[in-house]
Amino acid sequence: MGTAAQSRISSGTRTAVLVSADVAFRERLRRALAELRWQVRETTGGAETLACLEASPAEAVVLDSWLPDLEIQEFVTEFRRVHPDVDLVMADASEADGSEVRGPRRNEVLLALRRAQATDGAIWNTAPRTIEAGGFRERGGSQETAAARPAECATTAGRAAEETFAGPAVAAGDAAPWGTGLPEFVGSHPAMLEVSRRIRLVAPRATPVLIEGPTGSGKELVARALHRLSPRATRRMVALNCAAIPEGLLEAELFGHTRGAFTGAVDNRAGRIEAAHGGTLFLDEIGEMPLGLQAKLLRFLETGELQRVGNNDSIRVDVRIVAATHRPLAKLVKEGTFRADLYYRLAVFLIRTPALAGREEDVGTLIGHFLAKMGKSSPAKQISEAAQARLVQHGWPGNVRELEHVLERAWILAEDRPRIDAGEIEFDEES
Ligand SMILES: Nc1ncnc2c1ncn2[C@@H]1O[C@H](COP(=O)(O)OP(=O)(O)OP(=O)(O)O)[C@@H](O)[C@H]1O
Ligand SMILES: [Mg+2]
Repeated sequence: MGTAAQSRISSGTRTAVLVSADVAFRERLRRALAELRWQVRETTGGAETLACLEASPAEAVVLDSWLPDLEIQEFVTEFRRVHPDVDLVMADASEADGSEVRGPRRNEVLLALRRAQATDGAIWNTAPRTIEAGGFRERGGSQETAAARPAECATTAGRAAEETFAGPAVAAGDAAPWGTGLPEFVGSHPAMLEVSRRIRLVAPRATPVLIEGPTGSGKELVARALHRLSPRATRRMVALNCAAIPEGLLEAELFGHTRGAFTGAVDNRAGRIEAAHGGTLFLDEIGEMPLGLQAKLLRFLETGELQRVGNNDSIRVDVRIVAATHRPLAKLVKEGTFRADLYYRLAVFLIRTPALAGREEDVGTLIGHFLAKMGKSSPAKQISEAAQARLVQHGWPGNVRELEHVLERAWILAEDRPRIDAGEIEFDEES
């Protein structure tokens, strides 16, 4: 236990972190603990909790029996490894991993839990409960900060304004099956659920991740979910599309440059890698990176240090790398356009986003999802069976993005009629 934590104990105040996606539960327990002179911080998920404890220590963690991001056992294992001295109390008062020792602190938390329960009959295992979206935000532009989230976990219960998500129907009290999809991923095809499972497993770590999948299949969505569920979520995710920037400018864009390093370099400028310090760097279309630059990126990945263009001073930067490609990198390695050593560095953990073709059920669910989304900003519309059949039969070379666009077009073509008909379904030219 750190000195800060010790001094809090000696002054009679202790801190507990309440981990639950259920705002009403946290509120009751916060009050009960405050009566026993505990300070309380609140988090909604496992990754956020680990980041919260890293930012400042606590004496106890009260853990709900379900987390929106991690399996309980995964969280407990990681938590025990990093914080062996912090009391871990399960909200249902079960033993977390059999190593709990009853001490006065732990007894107080258990007492608070009983009191919180008494104020609400049964707070556990009562379904359905409202789940907050945790840190989930709709994706913004190509570069996003997590500024909407508190820099540290909230110290009060003033988080009631958080969104509730209308995603897959999962209640916090339910035992979440291993294959439950993350809220931003619509679709229950096994290949889609595997994407969520892999994200959950690797997000809390600093391991590099390579995302492979055809165009419009959700690669960027995966990158954002990895960042959201990582302990880096309170810092930035910086994205760079390697295919969108001319070859000559890409190096300075990644590594930064000094004033006068080349024509047009009028100032010293940090690159995208530096901008992502402490957070996540998303290298999109990594397969398009020129070979010369691949060597420089590899050097950075090996040493954790970089030099701005025009300067030999080394700068240490801590980033988690997530790369994406629609062209299988292993094939590019064989063809000689991608370095094998860089490939092995990036592809430590591979996530494949599946094509939409062959996932008929998911097409149906996605149609409902996008119609509901469009119905938020204009009067709702239904879809005719014939129109739906046309959509399900289509081959979807542009995957989920194409489906979204086809529906948007049909919505406009249906004018003010409350139903989209088959005649309004127009596919993209190349489909
Ligand atoms: N499983 C999904 N559930 C809901 N929306 C999805 C899903 N997959 C993709 N989308 C949506 O489809 C659109 C395209 O996704 P995204 O940009 O992540 O694809 P991508 O693989 O990065 O495409 P590209 O290769 O063209 O860059 C986005 O609006 C995204 O939100
Ligand atoms: Mg993309």
